[in-house]
Parts: sequence; C-alpha cells; structure tokens
Amino acid sequence: MYPSSTLRIDELPPEERTVYATLKPEHMPEHVAIIMDGNGRWAGGRSLKRFLGHQQGAKSVQLVTETASRIGLPWLTLYAFSLENNLRRPRAEVNFLMRLLRSYLESNVQRMMDNNVRMKYIGRTHELPPEVQDKMRWAEELTAGNTGTTLTLALNYGGRSELVDAFRSLAAEMKLKHSSADRICEEDIHRHLYTAHMPDPDLLIRTSGEMRLSNYLLWQIAYTEIFVTDRLWPDFRGVNLLEAIADFQRRERRFGGLGQDSGEVDEETEHAKIVAG
Ligand code: FPP
Repeated sequence: MYPSSTLRIDELPPEERTVYATLKPEHMPEHVAIIMDGNGRWAGGRSLKRFLGHQQGAKSVQLVTETASRIGLPWLTLYAFSLENNLRRPRAEVNFLMRLLRSYLESNVQRMMDNNVRMKYIGRTHELPPEVQDKMRWAEELTAGNTGTTLTLALNYGGRSELVDAFRSLAAEMKLKHSSADRICEEDIHRHLYTAHMPDPDLLIRTSGEMRLSNYLLWQIAYTEIFVTDRLWPDFRGVNLLEAIADFQRRERRFGGLGQDSGEVDEETEHAKIVAG
C-alpha cells in the first residue's frame, strides 16, 4: 500500500482512473522497470526518420512518469541508453540521443518538480559527454528534495558491466578490510550494484514485442514478473502502465516457493505411491 500522501489520483485522466479503480492498493509494485523499445519501428512505420521516433519516445517518458507519480509508484527505472547503443549505433544517432536527453532534462525539470519526481541515473555515466553529465547533475540536484517517484534513467548502462563494476568495487573493499573471498554473500554483491539504494523491480515491462532482456538489470530481475507488449514505446502511455500493473496483480509470485493453493504434500504418502508404482 502506497502512503496516501503520495497519491494524486484525482489528477489521472478519466481513462486511467477507470483502470486504476480496478487495481488492488495492497498489491501495488514498489518498483517498475521498463525496456523502452520500438522508437525506430514507430518512425519507420510512418516513413519518418528514426530521430522522430526517439523524440516521440521522450514524450512517452514524461507521460508515463507523470502517471507513475500520480499513483504514488516509488521507483520507476527506464532503459534510456545502453552501452551497446553507445558502441553500435551510428554516431549521428548517438549524438542525437545525447542532445535529446539534454533538452529533455532542461525542458521537463519543472514538470518533474510539479510532480514531486526525483531524478537519478545508473550506468557508466562518467563516459557520457561532459555537457550531458552537467545537465544530468543539474536535474538531479534540483529534484533531490522531491519525495514522490524516483525516476532512474539507465544511461550508458549494461547489466554485465554493472556486475563487473560491482565485483571490482567489492574486491577493492575486501582488499582494504583483508577479508576472505569465501565470506562473500549475496548482500555484498547487492551493496555494490548501482541500484544498492533501491528494491529489486517487481515488474519489468518491455515494449515492441521482443522477448529479450537486452542486458538490463540482470542481477536485480531474478524474481521479477515480466510483461511484454507489442505496443511500440512512442505509443505507450500511462494507461498502458496501469494495464501492465493490473496484469501483474493477476500473477502469483512464488519466489521459488509453492503457490497459495498447491495443497499440502505428505511426504510419506507420496513416497508410498512411488514405491507402489
Ligand atoms: C529503442 O528504440 C529505444 C532506445 C534506443 C532508447 C530509448 C530512448 C528514448 C525513449 C528517447 C529518449 C529518452 C529520454 C529519457 C529523453 P529503437 O531505436 O531500438 O527502436 P527499434 O528497435 O524499433 O529500431
């Protein structure tokens, strides 16, 4: 249940309010992560340049964030730019995405303030162009006091490189403390991830129908529910976020255990059945 102080349900458009009314407040996700895919296909389907797909995708980012903040979702983490995007996309597209990010932060920071949204980033952000880093820092500092949704943009991010960075930082700590490797536990890895300050995602949404994880939050999504939609990211709206949450609420999460109505298993009876053939 989200604290009522963070809820702004009356600000939801009627279509979103209708879906929201079907949700169970006691079973809301704490953290939703999204792989925003399909900008290029959205543009291609309209005979437009890919850039326009990204521009439209940036609008979806703002609208989905606003819905998240109105329903009081504590954590929203968006895959905005992967390490692989950085290495494998044409320079012109990478440069465009960097400019888009800067102008997005500049022109949306007021809306973030109005929506009580706090900006954070994960990834090898120190490798991004300095003017982009400056703008990122500016938006992060300005919104640092906000207490609603934390919007985390994964930028120059890769799940495997996050693990490499975590292991390096853990190894350095161990060296300093003269501690032995066989004492490493899961909590130690968690403490050194970029996401150490947040809970693991409950729900991962991927747009544009691809059944891939694309190197996103590999450690963190061990028990995350996955929702894939054919909708392309530039067409994704707040109402679709709410529909994904409704789908999530119909799932039964087991975390490796048994479901609610799996029935009691009597070991001796089951063994007798096996022996009797
Ligand atoms: C995939 O589309 C999306 C990306 C490369 C990253 C997401 C970027 C945005 C939503 C735009 C800007 C974001 C912010 C925060 C300002 P794709 O090009 O891979 O699509 P395709 O698979 O259809 O070609």
